[in-house]
Amino acid sequence: MNFNKNFNDIAENYLFAEVAERVAAYAKANPDKKVLKLGIGDVTLPLAPEVIKALHCAVDDMSKAETFKGYGPYEGYEFLRQSIADYYLSNGVNLQLSEIFVSDGAKSDLGNILDIFSKDNKVLVPDPVYPVYVDTNLMAGRKVAYMDATAENGFLPMPDENTDADIIYLCSPNNPTGAAYTKAQLKQWVDYANRRGAVILYDAAYECFISDDNLARSIYQVEGAKSCAIEFCSFSKTAGFTGTRCGYTVIPHGLEKDGFSANRHWFRRQATKFNGVPYIVQKGAAAVFTAQGQKEILQNIAYYKRNAKIIADCMDKLNIWYTGGTNSPYIWLKCPNGLKSWEFFDFLLNNAQVVGTPGAGFGKNGEGYFRLTAFGSEETTEQAVHRIEKLLVR
Ligand code: MLT
Repeated sequence: MNFNKNFNDIAENYLFAEVAERVAAYAKANPDKKVLKLGIGDVTLPLAPEVIKALHCAVDDMSKAETFKGYGPYEGYEFLRQSIADYYLSNGVNLQLSEIFVSDGAKSDLGNILDIFSKDNKVLVPDPVYPVYVDTNLMAGRKVAYMDATAENGFLPMPDENTDADIIYLCSPNNPTGAAYTKAQLKQWVDYANRRGAVILYDAAYECFISDDNLARSIYQVEGAKSCAIEFCSFSKTAGFTGTRCGYTVIPHGLEKDGFSANRHWFRRQATKFNGVPYIVQKGAAAVFTAQGQKEILQNIAYYKRNAKIIADCMDKLNIWYTGGTNSPYIWLKCPNGLKSWEFFDFLLNNAQVVGTPGAGFGKNGEGYFRLTAFGSEETTEQAVHRIEKLLVR
């Protein structure tokens, strides 16, 4: 037996596991200190009442022979896929139900989707980047090329005709930088991918934070995207499902090459390796799309946006350069006093007991930057900001 040697090519720890380990060590050594966590983008508000109601009803369904459910459809129940299709339609995107696959979250599908692509595909990712895109490709033995996302290009790299790519990862609104592509910018990516016969793996997990109409909520709002893009979305950030687990992936029938269909391949893959998301959870997810569900969800998003503003105001006050926080729950800031990302992480943890995510963990261009999340409670956010101000104000 041999282990997969490709693991030698990835960092020993997943970024957020590394942060959690360091914070746990600090908390153990300093049991009297209250640590405030604005690191991993984990939500704090409970599930919306409408979702809870649906979950309870679904539990009752499971208690009666007439409504009990065993194995569900691999691609998800029709009631949920129909709700998702209706939601897309409200954003001007027409999808067939067979183009929607319900999953246990965007992260799993973003990793698992690689099963349907050849190993020798050239992979292109922005730097900084959500580490899952890189690590999953390296685990599978693929080489990854990077495109620079910097303050100069607004952390939104655009296609370069001289760069060869088969699989392109885009995330908008972006994790970690909070930058978001306009529809016009995405059109350039779609045209580039179609010209090359490349696929765009589009991570739309944070689309619900978009309030600017020029920005794309879905890549399918851009003409031509249905022949080159797969979109990943999640209920985690939209509706607080980080612990409940539900998401969806859209694979249009138009995405095919040499007689192979991405949609068919994915269905085959899922039927082999995945038995679907629990019925109860899918019922809860469907409730997100009811009128009452939407009302409650939007209130939660507004709450997190207020937190983002609290953090942004603090950065303004301290004259610290930052981006994000308006169409995104993340504030991406330049570490003060020329500190490197992990140095600032230690400085904040040791002196203010505030946890963030070091930008260097997202790639070389993240060095010297730091990410704070707006997903904490209002109380935690205010306390953290207060401590940061006290520490950094001169
Ligand atoms: C993050 O903090 O970047 C995200 O919460 C990680 C994730 O969604 O997996």
